[in-house]
Amino acid sequence: MTTKTLIDPAPSDQAAEQAAFDAVIEADSRIEPRDWMPAAYRKTLIRQISQHAHSEIIGMQPEGNWITRAPSLKRKAILMAKVQDEAGHGLYLYSAAQTLGITRDEMTEQLIEGRARYSSIFNYPTPTWADMGAIGWLVDGAAICNQVPLCRASYGPYARAMVRICKEESFHQRQGFEILLTLMQGTEAQQRMAQDAVDRWYWPSLMMFGPPDDESPNSAQSMAWKIKRFSNDDLRQRFIGMLVPQAEVLGVTLPDPELRWDEAAGRWITSDIDWTEFHEVLAGRGPMNAERIRRRREAHEDGAWVREAAAEYARTQQRRREEAA
Ligand SMILES: [Fe+2]
Ligand SMILES: [Fe+2]
Repeated sequence: MTTKTLIDPAPSDQAAEQAAFDAVIEADSRIEPRDWMPAAYRKTLIRQISQHAHSEIIGMQPEGNWITRAPSLKRKAILMAKVQDEAGHGLYLYSAAQTLGITRDEMTEQLIEGRARYSSIFNYPTPTWADMGAIGWLVDGAAICNQVPLCRASYGPYARAMVRICKEESFHQRQGFEILLTLMQGTEAQQRMAQDAVDRWYWPSLMMFGPPDDESPNSAQSMAWKIKRFSNDDLRQRFIGMLVPQAEVLGVTLPDPELRWDEAAGRWITSDIDWTEFHEVLAGRGPMNAERIRRRREAHEDGAWVREAAAEYARTQQRRREEAA
């Protein structure tokens, strides 16, 4: 990953800079783009924010797939608004990453060349309309659990982008819930379709929180830098606690026969998560990995004329300004 490297300060300066950085983190204050920051902090943020941006953009595909087939005009309008929101989230996040010295072109290149990661949840197919409900309820629901604490992340531009994003994510979760609720109040076939979608999305949504704490090597450093505030397992527990009463209202069954609240331990007991599947999808061998990247690359190539036209317009405007002066 190429970034503009800042000129290294002299050693004594660097100790002072590091102390100033540590004090900001300690005080729960924000690091801003012009502030000195450790190279590893910058690198971690570029990786995390760009992956997050890519996830928003790739995440438009599984749902975009249903815009032309939404069951009513109202559903179509809601789904279009939701998919557009995800594009907006991608743009806020690319902008936040750019403040750290990486360019938008570099990030785009990494994505369309298949070198960048994005959330593996978007590598699953969306064969039925109920998937729009299950994605909103479970995938956007998990995103909210993950992202609300990021509104307090130590890097200012990231935290501020997350505040706007989280407001929209809660709308996404509700529209998904409402799609499932409508299906569950419908015919038997509609109820089966809703349950089938929940069965397929439940486990992947739990995997969105990342590997178990004892296998998550970068978590401790991210927590120390106050980028991350809660561990993967804590967030997963919180998410399950949110789902259980909502599943009851919906009348859907969460596909885990072992799932129960352990009063003494104060936590949810679940079946083992199939991490082999997670690693397969992460390694690019999920059902839709190649298709998602192919479509993203095509969309980028199809948009070349827009970028050229915009650049030409900017050049013309510049020339006119110079001539007028
Ligand atoms: Fe989003
Ligand atoms: Fe969303």
